[in-house]
Amino acid sequence: MLPVLLLSGLAAGVRAVNNGLARTPQMGWNNWNSLGCDVSESLLLDTAKKLIDAGLRDVGYNYVVLDDCWSDGRGSDGYIRVDKVKFPNGMKSIAKHLHDNGLLYGMYSSAGEMTCARYEGSLDWEKQDAESWASWDVDYLKYDNCYHRGRFGTPEISFNRYNTMWQALNATGRPILYSLCSWGEDYVHTWGMSIANSWRMSGDIYDSFTRPNDLCICTNAADPHCVAPGSHCSVLNILNKVAPYADRGQPGGWNDLDMLEVGHGGMTDDEYVAHFSLWAAVKSPLLIGADLRHLDAKTLTILNNPAVIAVNQDPLGRSVTRVRRDTDVPKDKYGVGETQVWSGPLYGGDEVVILLNAVGEDLEMSTDLNEIFFSDGPEGSAPQTKEKWAVYDLWANRMDDGTAQRILDAPVTELESVFSKANVYNSTLTPYVEGLKAGDERLMGKKVGELAPGGELKATVPKHSVKMYRLKSLENGGKRYSIHRDEL
Ligand SMILES: *[C@@H]1O[C@H](CO)[C@@H](O)[C@H](O)[C@H]1NC(C)=O
Ligand SMILES: *[C@@H]1O[C@H](CO)[C@@H](O)[C@H](O)[C@H]1NC(C)=O
Repeated sequence: MLPVLLLSGLAAGVRAVNNGLARTPQMGWNNWNSLGCDVSESLLLDTAKKLIDAGLRDVGYNYVVLDDCWSDGRGSDGYIRVDKVKFPNGMKSIAKHLHDNGLLYGMYSSAGEMTCARYEGSLDWEKQDAESWASWDVDYLKYDNCYHRGRFGTPEISFNRYNTMWQALNATGRPILYSLCSWGEDYVHTWGMSIANSWRMSGDIYDSFTRPNDLCICTNAADPHCVAPGSHCSVLNILNKVAPYADRGQPGGWNDLDMLEVGHGGMTDDEYVAHFSLWAAVKSPLLIGADLRHLDAKTLTILNNPAVIAVNQDPLGRSVTRVRRDTDVPKDKYGVGETQVWSGPLYGGDEVVILLNAVGEDLEMSTDLNEIFFSDGPEGSAPQTKEKWAVYDLWANRMDDGTAQRILDAPVTELESVFSKANVYNSTLTPYVEGLKAGDERLMGKKVGELAPGGELKATVPKHSVKMYRLKSLENGGKRYSIHRDEL
């Protein structure tokens, strides 16, 4: 059976959380990775302006999410109070400002008696807190897992604790994107989609590509002894944890690999490219974690690559899966080293392929159509293996640093002409699904070759980086899968 038919059959039966949100993974910004508790009204408003002026809102980053440390205890009426020093005009005024600027507002709490930074938590106050967020016109809740008074240990206990908030949010009548953050505990990948729009499947990320750390002791999410998901999890650690569950994401509910470290400073440019590519292709929410007030050109050219974002926002909503992992390769100074191949279906019968080199030296890597289409039929039985394919490199048209710098330097009055000269993709004007239907070249990447039936895809992959490709069938004048386009 063809993958697209199979998948649309699956989608019809889906009973994911039914609030109409996150039909593709949510995108936006969250302050935690770079600023922690250093939050304020001006931070949110300055960041909103930067999202717009740097063109990031208009490639899809539309949620501005305030993390921990915003409250000031709970009043005797049972309702949580806003810290008036940090947020002198209250939350509703921030929501209004964001909405007036084409953005959405996200806030944070914990399913515990305290938040992780030991502010007021929402456990047993779900109704009051959901009412507060709805009354402030909030659009998104990140709901953490600290200080839960021991209410975890089985999937059902965790489910019930998080379901209380989903029911409370639902009862407000306001569609609020529910971003569940239980760090992968209690097999959240088996129940998260019933009550939430995304679920974190790992402890917190940190700004390292491969370096192990004692605070992130779990390497395998299926390990029943993995009782401390922790923090300081590397990109590779998180990727290896999501691999067995990558296919659980679906329109309305996504595996959340945690916020992006891109631009934070601890990884090389190649490592950030790999991190961003894989988060996009696994269909993780893409929440920028850098302090955008100090955004640099190189960071912008990773975050604004429309060909990679189009994979994340693909209307089929299917994650890549890992089709090969080799650990018998040279190790780096931390004893870590491996290569991986990931692939998965895209809209219109296209296929995305990622070659990941997590070894401390450049490598020749290769895969072939049998491996790429493994999920559609093992050992070369998939029909796609008998076709010809065009290969498009999704990073070849990355914006150059000079153009990015011109965007960052332009006075507001000149931005329009700078954007138009740079021919940037604008998803506010043309949503990704429309751009994909029209075959917009900016979403396709650059054609770098063709594969004959059964053909091999080879590339030199720099150390700690990826090659990321979109494959398009050349059968029938490229119309091989056109019948399925109408279904979407
Ligand atoms: C994108 O299009 C919208 C709607 O036309 C417009 O308001 C916005 O300025 C455009 N953004 C960019 C970066 O060109
Ligand atoms: C509440 O849940 C019902 C049942 O799933 C759903 O149809 C409705 O859209 C939800 N409303 C909100 C505001 O989340």
